[in-house]
Amino acid sequence: MRKKIVAGNWKMNLNMVQGVSLVGAILKNLPDLNELKQVVLAPSFLNIGVTYQQIMNTPFLSIGAQNCHQEEFGAFTGEVSASMIKGAGASHVILGHSERREYFNETSSLLKKKVDAALAQELTVIFCCGEPLSIRDAATENDYVAQQIQEGLFHLEAAQMKHIVIAYEPIWAIGTGRTATAPQAQDMHHNIRNVIATKYGSELAGNTTILYGGSCKPSNAEELFACPDVDGGLIGGAALNAEDFVGIITAMMNSK
Ligand code: 13P
Repeated sequence: MRKKIVAGNWKMNLNMVQGVSLVGAILKNLPDLNELKQVVLAPSFLNIGVTYQQIMNTPFLSIGAQNCHQEEFGAFTGEVSASMIKGAGASHVILGHSERREYFNETSSLLKKKVDAALAQELTVIFCCGEPLSIRDAATENDYVAQQIQEGLFHLEAAQMKHIVIAYEPIWAIGTGRTATAPQAQDMHHNIRNVIATKYGSELAGNTTILYGGSCKPSNAEELFACPDVDGGLIGGAALNAEDFVGIITAMMNSK
């Protein structure tokens, strides 16, 4: 059976003290996680080490980074490699977030290299995809997202693909308060699973965790997570508030 995951992407929010305080509050009310229902926290690079110290004894709670450089080490001032992330205690890395694609010009060919660098360090990649509003309005979102997945991931062997989690985040739903409806999310997640099945077969596709992201909150998480192909969420704004984040985790725990 495939895993369900709720992952919190803090983006460029919370200094060290604020991050430690948030994690403390989450830990106080965190439901008991298990093999099939897990949580990932993705703070800034600076907080990975301290957050890892806070959560290292909590089973099925892991740390993720929000990005990594494609090279393992070298003269790349200001960058952070996958091996550094791993060494600080992280087990996951988010790659291909729409904000990285848009504001930092991350292309599919660069993302391929980042995916390879992360997998070489045995990190699990949370690979983001999702269409802008213009594509949704033109009703070409299925092809657009399929292409993002093909270009970023289809160079991988099946054994590597098992370490990929997909996050579908429609750009028009990120930070806007406008969530995809449950049927919209389900249709796209089903499309993504089919795209993966065409290359890697239905068994691997059926075992791939596909998260939804975009204005996910405690009030809509239950309905979204009830969709057969929605396996949890990648949470932005609501991950910065302990009560909201735990509410979303609880929705995952209560889902089938
Ligand atoms: P919001 O939950 O703030 O819409 O952000 C979603 C997101 O981009 C998570 O990566």
